[in-house]
Amino acid sequence: MYVNVAVLTETRAHERRVALVPSVIPKLVKLGARLHMQPCAGAAIHLEDAAFQNVAWIADRTALVKDADVVLAVQPPALEVVSAMKEGAILICFIYAHNEPALVKRLLDRKITCFAMERVPRITRAQAMDALSSQSALAGYYAVQLGSTTLTRVVPKITGAAGSIGPARVLVMGLGVAGLEAMATAHRLGAIVEGYDVRPETREQALSVGGSFVDTGIDARGKGGYARELSAEEKSSVAAVLTKHIQSADLVITTAAIPGKASPKLISHVQLAGMKAGAVIVDLSAEGGGNCDDTRPGETVRIGPVTIVAPLNVPSLLGEDASELYAKNQYNLLALMMKNNVIEIDWSDEILAGTVLTHAGENKAEIADNAIPAVKAAGAVASGTLPVVKTPASPAEA
Ligand code: NAI
Repeated sequence: MYVNVAVLTETRAHERRVALVPSVIPKLVKLGARLHMQPCAGAAIHLEDAAFQNVAWIADRTALVKDADVVLAVQPPALEVVSAMKEGAILICFIYAHNEPALVKRLLDRKITCFAMERVPRITRAQAMDALSSQSALAGYYAVQLGSTTLTRVVPKITGAAGSIGPARVLVMGLGVAGLEAMATAHRLGAIVEGYDVRPETREQALSVGGSFVDTGIDARGKGGYARELSAEEKSSVAAVLTKHIQSADLVITTAAIPGKASPKLISHVQLAGMKAGAVIVDLSAEGGGNCDDTRPGETVRIGPVTIVAPLNVPSLLGEDASELYAKNQYNLLALMMKNNVIEIDWSDEILAGTVLTHAGENKAEIADNAIPAVKAAGAVASGTLPVVKTPASPAEA
C-alpha cells in the first residue's frame, strides 16, 4: 500500500511558492507517499526538477490529480482540478472559503475532504503546522526590508567624521506574528522601535523584542486570541493617542487584521497629512483593503510627502524560504493522518477537526461556526460530529 500524493504547480498571478521542497521528500516517502508533480513546479524559486528525487512527473494537472489520494498546493486550485479529483480524495492548501464560493461548492459536490491551511488552530500543539504563522513571520521581516529601501535615510545610527545620522524611528501597528517579527527586525537594524496593538498581552511581547509599547488603554481581545473590531468611541480615543507616534515615525509598518472583516483603518487622511516628509508606510494588510485610508492594494503610491507601499502576497516574494516552511507545515499536518502507508483521519483530533473545511459533501466550517458557543468551547464540535474514518489509499504497487 502507498498513498498517492500530487503536488500542483501554482498558477495564480505572482505566486512563486511551491507546496513541496526537496528536503521534505524523504519524510513524505517514509510516511508512505508516492509523489507526483508537474514539471517546473519550483522554477520560480530556482528549484530545478532535477532537485526533486523520487518524484514522478505528469505535465497535465487533471491527469496529475486523477488518481491522487492527497493533493497539495499553496493557493486554492482551479475548479477543473477539483472536478478531476477522485471522490473522497484529500486537498490541502489555503482556501479562504469566503472568497471562493464556487470552489467550496465544487469541493462539496465532489465530496473532497479539504483541509484549509488558514484554519489550523492557533494552539501550541499545532504550531509546527501553522502556515499563517510561518508565512506571516517572513512577511514581517520583509516589510522592514521594503520600508528601509524605500526610505531616503538610514535606519541605524551611523557616526562618521562629518557627524551622526539616524537612527530612524519605526512604529509597528498590529503585533501579531508579522508585527512582532517586524519589530524584532527593525530593532536588529538599529531603529528606535515602538509597537501598538489592541490586545494588552502584546505589551510584554513588544518589550521582549527590544521595542517599547504605545499604550492606548484599549482592551479589544476577541475570540480565539484574535482582536475584535473597535467601537467608534474606542477608535477616536486610540487615534488621539496614536497621532503623535504616527507623525514622529520615519517608517510605519501596519499589520492589523480582524478575521473575516476588512482591515481596520489605523491611519486616516488627516493623520497621514501630518506625517514627516519622506516617511514611509508599509501596509501588510493590503489584502484586506489596507490599514490606511490612502492605501492602494498592490501599489506603491506617493501621497504628499509620504510613500505607502502596499504589496500583495508578501510571503511569495520570499518564495524560497516561504516554500520551505510551508512544505514543512503541510508535512506535519499530513503526518497526523498518514500512518502505515494509509490515510487514517482521527476526527477527535482537534487539529484535524478544526482545520477541515469540507468532508463527505458537508461544509464542516459552516457547521462549526454555527454551533452553540458553549458546545464549541467544550470541544464537542471537534470530536462529536465526525466519525473516525479510514480513507483507502492507492492499491499496492504492481
Ligand atoms: P492577525 O494577522 O489576525 O492580526 C494582526 C494583529 O492585528 C493582531 O495582533 C491583532 O490583535 C491586531 N489588531 C487587530 N485590530 C487592531 C487595531 N484596531 N489596532 C491595532 N492592532 C489591531 O494576527 P496573527 O498574527 O494571525 O495572530 C493572531 C493571534 O493568534 C494572536 O493572538 C497570536 O498570538 C495567536 N497565535 C497563537 C499561536 C499559538 O500557537 N499559540 C501561534 C500564532 C499566533
